[in-house]
Amino acid sequence: MGKRFNYGVYGVGRIGKVHVSIVQKQGHKIIAIGDDVQAAVLAAQEELDLASIKTFNNAEDMVRGAAHEMDAVIIASHTKDHAKDALPFVKAEIPVYLEKPLTDGLKEAFDFVEAIGRDENLIQIGLQRRFDPPLLHAKALLDSGLIGAIREIRCILRDQYPPPPTYSSRGLIIDMGIHVADEAIFFLSEFPNEVWASVHHTKGYNSPIDEGGDTAFVTFTTPSNILGRLDLSRTHSSGYNNETYIIGTEGTLQVGRFAGYPGPIYVELWKSDGTQHSSSKSFEMSYLKGDYPEFLPRFDKAYRNAHRQFRDVVETSKSFAVTQNHVLDAQVFVEAAHRSAQDNGLHYKIRRFDDLQQYKMTCIASNLMDCD
Ligand SMILES: NC(=O)c1ccc[n+]([C@@H]2O[C@H](COP(=O)([O-])OP(=O)(O)OC[C@H]3O[C@@H](n4cnc5c(N)ncnc54)[C@H](O)[C@@H]3O)[C@@H](O)[C@H]2O)c1
Repeated sequence: MGKRFNYGVYGVGRIGKVHVSIVQKQGHKIIAIGDDVQAAVLAAQEELDLASIKTFNNAEDMVRGAAHEMDAVIIASHTKDHAKDALPFVKAEIPVYLEKPLTDGLKEAFDFVEAIGRDENLIQIGLQRRFDPPLLHAKALLDSGLIGAIREIRCILRDQYPPPPTYSSRGLIIDMGIHVADEAIFFLSEFPNEVWASVHHTKGYNSPIDEGGDTAFVTFTTPSNILGRLDLSRTHSSGYNNETYIIGTEGTLQVGRFAGYPGPIYVELWKSDGTQHSSSKSFEMSYLKGDYPEFLPRFDKAYRNAHRQFRDVVETSKSFAVTQNHVLDAQVFVEAAHRSAQDNGLHYKIRRFDDLQQYKMTCIASNLMDCD
């Protein structure tokens, strides 16, 4: 193990507590927690046995009161508060592990990236698929060319249950879609050029929050003519479901066909003669005891890897694997899909640029955000 880190954690709802517990089990220390809502601080202190540490109800106060003792901060507050809560830590040069997405809206996301710049050693984003062993194995198989040229990708993310009553979401596509939008960009190493979507209310779904629907289909194409689809819902009644299918000219790659929850995660590479390639492999989810959020068995190992890698980058001054730049791209993608779904499936053309001003002006011209 490397250095023992002293962490601050701001935002201690469902996932904030998961992060606390992971880094504690990895041998690191929580020296301060905070949340805009004091009831959340008190609940976290009690559940995580953190009675005697410093607490705060404002991120700026936490920077003033505890940044000097911190090696890093984890921010897992409401999405709408991410930029506001992260900025003071970035300014104080504290490395930030920030939950997805960057912000609620695209304008604020661009403003935030403009404010902190493009450096890739400031923030790691909690898009845990980039640290997930089965998905990383699939990416290596894809990059080895075994399925030939990619024709089609389909990424599925289906929750079993609605979010908790405390949750805030600007929309199902924005909130859930960001995970698989980033996954698709990661697998394809390509940014979409056209996006359209629909969002639906299916039978018998009751949520404590209104996020415009419970099921969505996002379709997209890429400049190299790959056809893509993101399937999102909160209604998979038999368990949390994450699947990826990639169809190539010489084979098919399938990750995570539903096989029980928790259960095995199969990475299956099917050749053109209909048989399975020997590099296919199965992984196991975590089998946890007690109460836990529904997504934890599937991504527990990915979160743990993400935290390990985060600390490694902090110690070695390398670049984080997933940064404000990657999540900004995923946000542009899901913003187009969200707006399309609001607009009867209107097709949105999108393009990314390294130059932030050019990128922003192109998003404005594509009606993805308003002018200043
Ligand atoms: N990477 C992932 O897989 C993943 C999973 C879940 C959430 N998230 C992200 O993490 C962020 C937080 O999500 P969450 O699931 O923790 O939401 P949450 O609703 O549990 O917590 C969000 C906020 O709600 C309030 N809250 C929570 N519990 C409370 C309590 N007992 N009493 C009073 N107030 C309470 C707090 O202000 C807390 O910061 C969001 O941005 C979300 O997008 C990421």
